[in-house]
Amino acid sequence: MKSLTTALCALLGQSTIVLGQGYTNESEVPLYGLSPPSTHLGSGGSSARWTDAYARAQAIVAQATLEEKLNLTRGFAGQCVGNTGSIARLGVPALCFSDAPDGIRGNEFVSAFPAGIHVAATWDRDLMYDYGRALGDEYRGKGINVALGPVAGPLGRVVRGGRNWEGLSNDPYLAGAGMGNVVRGMQDAGVMANPKHWLLNEQEWRRNPGSLGESLSSNVDDRTLHELYVFPFMDGLKEGAVSVMCSYQRVNNSYGCQNSKMLNGILKTELGFEGFVLSDWGAQHSGVASANAGLDIVMPDAGYWGQNLTNAVNNGSVSTERATDMATRILAAWYYTKQDNGSFPSPGVYSNLQKHEPIDVQANHGALIREIGAAGTVLVKNVNNALPLKKPTFVYVVGYDAQVPASPWQNPSRYGGGYEVNFGWETLKGTLVTGGGSGSSAPAYVVSPFDAIRDRVVKDRGILRWDFESINPTPYVNADACLVFINAYASESFDRTSLTDEFSDRLVKNTAANCTNTIVVIHSTGIRTVDAWIDHPNVTAVLYAGLPGQESGHSIVDVLWGDVAPSGKLPFTIAKQESDYGHLLNGTVTFDAFPQQDFTEGLYIDYRAFDRDGDEPLYAFGHGLSYTTFEYKDLAVMSEEKTDTRPIPDPAVPVVQGGHPALWDVVAHVTCTVSNTGGVAAAEVAQLYVGIPSNDEFVTPVRQLRGFEKVRVEPGKMSTVTFPLTRRDLSVWDVKAQQWRLQAGSYKIAVGASSRDIKLEGSLEIAA
Ligand SMILES: *[C@@H]1O[C@H](CO)[C@@H](O)[C@H](O)[C@H]1NC(C)=O
Ligand SMILES: *[C@@H]1O[C@H](CO)[C@@H](O)[C@H](O)[C@H]1NC(C)=O
Ligand SMILES: *[C@@H]1O[C@H](CO)[C@@H](O)[C@H](O)[C@H]1NC(C)=O
Ligand SMILES: *[C@@H]1O[C@H](CO)[C@@H](O)[C@H](O)[C@H]1NC(C)=O
Ligand SMILES: *[C@@H]1O[C@H](CO)[C@@H](O)[C@H](O)[C@H]1NC(C)=O
Ligand SMILES: *[C@@H]1O[C@H](CO)[C@@H](O)[C@H](O)[C@H]1NC(C)=O
Ligand SMILES: *[C@@H]1O[C@H](CO)[C@@H](O)[C@H](O)[C@H]1NC(C)=O
Ligand SMILES: *[C@@H]1O[C@H](CO)[C@@H](O)[C@H](O)[C@H]1NC(C)=O
Ligand SMILES: *[C@@H]1O[C@H](CO)[C@@H](O)[C@H](O)[C@H]1NC(C)=O
Repeated sequence: MKSLTTALCALLGQSTIVLGQGYTNESEVPLYGLSPPSTHLGSGGSSARWTDAYARAQAIVAQATLEEKLNLTRGFAGQCVGNTGSIARLGVPALCFSDAPDGIRGNEFVSAFPAGIHVAATWDRDLMYDYGRALGDEYRGKGINVALGPVAGPLGRVVRGGRNWEGLSNDPYLAGAGMGNVVRGMQDAGVMANPKHWLLNEQEWRRNPGSLGESLSSNVDDRTLHELYVFPFMDGLKEGAVSVMCSYQRVNNSYGCQNSKMLNGILKTELGFEGFVLSDWGAQHSGVASANAGLDIVMPDAGYWGQNLTNAVNNGSVSTERATDMATRILAAWYYTKQDNGSFPSPGVYSNLQKHEPIDVQANHGALIREIGAAGTVLVKNVNNALPLKKPTFVYVVGYDAQVPASPWQNPSRYGGGYEVNFGWETLKGTLVTGGGSGSSAPAYVVSPFDAIRDRVVKDRGILRWDFESINPTPYVNADACLVFINAYASESFDRTSLTDEFSDRLVKNTAANCTNTIVVIHSTGIRTVDAWIDHPNVTAVLYAGLPGQESGHSIVDVLWGDVAPSGKLPFTIAKQESDYGHLLNGTVTFDAFPQQDFTEGLYIDYRAFDRDGDEPLYAFGHGLSYTTFEYKDLAVMSEEKTDTRPIPDPAVPVVQGGHPALWDVVAHVTCTVSNTGGVAAAEVAQLYVGIPSNDEFVTPVRQLRGFEKVRVEPGKMSTVTFPLTRRDLSVWDVKAQQWRLQAGSYKIAVGASSRDIKLEGSLEIAA
């Protein structure tokens, strides 16, 4: 098998193709995944800022020897999670890379921010930006050049996927809004963002090669690739992301970090990416092939490069232009983010075994974390206004998730060392503020739900009882409310085996059996089904409280007592039962040597699948209750006369980073009004869903999110919301034309409070 592979690659001079499961004959090997071997050299043409960055980078690179250029493309051991080489002679420092997307991992005096999925649940573009900015300020304060995030891969195709919580929702539009705003925030702080993982790393099982064989190959058709998986990355690129991380698993049987079509083809040519591609740690599986396919930096060490890459350039296997391109892209990213200006700190990343002065970068980020924590909390059930709690009150707090564990070392990090503690505590160990693995943050402190509830009850002169351990808590017949805290853990490196756990379900049922006002708070890494008890008449309120970060307790108390009216909306669909997710519930579990994961469902994941099948979810994508009521009125749909609405963008216009510039032209506007018809000030997320005309050639989902706006409205007041619709928002990916294409016909326009709670309907006509 191996020799056949090698022969094939030598023949084609392209990325490695590994023969897939069932392929025993060379002529049967699927050749998709290949693209022309010519590499795409960066040009800096995207904007004046890129042009300037390229000019400066080129001036330095022109003075560098081959060894010096290639020194920037590889990892060295150092104080950071990743460190490139330097060119001391030319004043180019080693670059420092660090996890995680929700806080600097394994460090002291840093903040633990809410995880990506929680930020998505806010549906608040301003908070997404503020989040990126605050994270960026912390990274910069520690002298870290590249922050390894944000995440839109995994997108969340597989419901039980282990890393979905690091990402920004399984809807590409919502994830794109998150990507774009977080990237802009981080880079405004002067830190390089690193959108990851490019692409299709949708499950943990066999993401890497190992004793069973090669890694999983994600096989997806070109249209789905663009409309679902590439889509959110486009927003990050448009906002200037200077680096992208390639993924562990294979795509069409070619490894993510040596897949020429994915790197040179889609990322660098079609989307005009000007920055550098960084390998995930240990994701490089070839030397010449990965260099020619578009990889620019290998981590954490020299991998297949180092002296071998120098030799490969000297013998012509890799061109000198390509070597120069790698170094130019890396330095252009450095100039683009202005890290050359002399004020960028030297890395201050220490393990706790080293004695050193503390570098405190927390600023007042706790207040922002508390705000996002509350804003991303989703109220899905609230019978007879069980919430907000009244005061004074007798509160009974139940469940392992209400408090911090007896010792943070109950679940020591799998990544070891330093101040790192894996605060993605496993279920039953303590309150969950983040998930596990390299996306886990390192809180300076954790305010547990119980701590914050106690402080609140003390203030109001109430009564408090608690039971963190028993599955059958002692009933307190006089309690006004029984708050049950449960969670659902997930981690990098394995997928979830269930969306529920029996202990938590029994705990809720036992509490409810003796408490007429049982309020359940779920800290969850993602979808957590609740069919075991959701219909119990004593379960009066349910909150999905996500992964809120270090201010967890304050955030939930703000919502429980109504200091903040809930405004979070589900960034995924909660099904009535796990089996309703069908084949997307589990990842592909196989022991084959060449495992294949075929994305046969195409565009139909999450609500797109429920809508197609007419299945009723328990809580729809976009659902979330408030303490007030809203009325939607006055829908208006206006097309922009001045915009070019020819089906395909003008091919004569050059691509800039993010794709063809016309994709971002606003083709139409939708507006409506949202009135607060209840008694308290609150924010509402108005959502726009578009039904793109469906025909034989382009069958389209019933509706797709293509706009949202969060507005805060005082009681009795009204706010106008505007949804700009870009060409991309209204297009399908045309595989034949290899371009985004507008469809002639009538677009269905639906505005509502969730994907299933449509308040206003209209249409938009695009002429043939
Ligand atoms: C491989 O497949 C081709 C086409 O199906 C066939 O002509 C050829 O004989 C096969 N080769 C082997 C070695 O089986
Ligand atoms: C993967 O293969 C499918 C099926 O041939 C093709 O549509 C798609 O473009 C390929 N994608 C890549 C990245 O090679
Ligand atoms: C490569 O980088 C390393 C680490 O920063 C440094 O020690 C070494 O001198 C560099 N080599 C060259 C050729 O500049
Ligand atoms: C270079 O290639 C040799 C021979 O293929 C291999 O043993 C070595 O690990 C490679 N890597 C480096 C960094 O030299
Ligand atoms: C060129 O050098 C690389 C790295 O040492 C090696 O893998 C490759 O086989 C060489 N190619 C030729 C044609 O010598
Ligand atoms: C360098 O960047 C920092 C942070 O953006 C800024 O405050 C400072 O003015 C800049 N210095 C120079 C010399 O441009
Ligand atoms: C999903 O995976 C679990 C193990 O993780 C297995 O028990 C179950 O049968 C699988 N379900 C389906 C529908 O494949
Ligand atoms: C309800 O409370 C009674 C005592 O009042 C207790 O015997 C019973 O076990 C409780 N039920 C559950 C399901 O916990
Ligand atoms: C609800 O709680 C009350 C009060 O403890 C209890 O009597 C009743 O049986 C509970 N209802 C159910 C369905 O368990």
